[in-house]
Amino acid sequence: MIDKINAIKAEVETLKATSLQAVEELRIKYLSKKGEVSALMQEFRTVPAEQKRELGQQLNVLKEAVTAKLAALREALESADTVDADLDLSRTAAPMPLGTRHPLSLVREEIISIFSRQGFTIAEGPEVEDDWHVFSALNFADDHPARDMQDTFFIQRNPDVLLRTHTSSAQVRIMEKTQPPIRVLCPGRVYRNEAISARAHCFFHQIEGLYVDENVSFADLRQALLYFAREMFSPDTKIRLRPSYFPFTEPSAEMDISCNLCGGKGCSFCKHTGWVEILGCGMVDPNVLEACGIDSKRYSGYAFGMGVERITNLKYQVKDLRLFSENDVRFLRQFTSAH
Ligand code: DAH
Repeated sequence: MIDKINAIKAEVETLKATSLQAVEELRIKYLSKKGEVSALMQEFRTVPAEQKRELGQQLNVLKEAVTAKLAALREALESADTVDADLDLSRTAAPMPLGTRHPLSLVREEIISIFSRQGFTIAEGPEVEDDWHVFSALNFADDHPARDMQDTFFIQRNPDVLLRTHTSSAQVRIMEKTQPPIRVLCPGRVYRNEAISARAHCFFHQIEGLYVDENVSFADLRQALLYFAREMFSPDTKIRLRPSYFPFTEPSAEMDISCNLCGGKGCSFCKHTGWVEILGCGMVDPNVLEACGIDSKRYSGYAFGMGVERITNLKYQVKDLRLFSENDVRFLRQFTSAH
């Protein structure tokens, strides 16, 4: 009998269970009325009197060992159970803070989407440029003030390596390597050596548009821009084109839209004029076409350029330009995207 007691004891020490149900089955196997320990208790009655003391003690030890082992297994499973509940992959996840699109990205995507509906595709150029693409090919005279150190960040002099001051440089790159018809948008970051304030920054974003083909007219330009203004702001937005000057366009114009805050009646935002300026544009100067290898007798084109910050300011009334690059989440969280 002592052998049986020892065998059960050894067996019980190695017991494992993966569920509470399994622990219960073990209890039945060892401790229930018909269980193995109970059977030994029955057998105990028949052992000779001189062995009773010794075997009785051993039996009690065994019973306690089995009871303790089962309790330990049960406890381990119960505490593991709570961990299991945490790992329930079907449970709803705790809310995770999601980022929002940057307002400049939202507006850039909207502008691109409006012009892509008019057949424009995207073409990007480098931010680190040379004098030819930023100035010379665009018909800037050698002594033009825009080349001045005050505006342009030069990385190197002779040969000039500089940060582009406008996305018009991307038009040059496109025209140099593509023959018309050309209909592209060039979005990107530009740099100017300006003191940072609420109204000026040393870097900002522009979107350039260029359309070159046979018989492109100023009326085409006007229609493309009117469509843009109405889609971007509201269907009753009006536009007006004021004569202006840019070295790379002739004739050149600046476009105003009717103030989207007061509807053109006049308010402090539009300085009581009813109009706000949003972009520069014009017919591509024949000198520019020729500089880029395009026959100016056969082809004509229009171009326009707008500041993404400016459009964002009009659309969302962000007055201080610095907010766009400070990464303050209280500001950024206000913009959500439908995309
Ligand atoms: N490049 C001009 C600027 O940075 C904007 C501009 C004006 C672009 C007229 C054009 C244009 O393409 O036709 O201020």
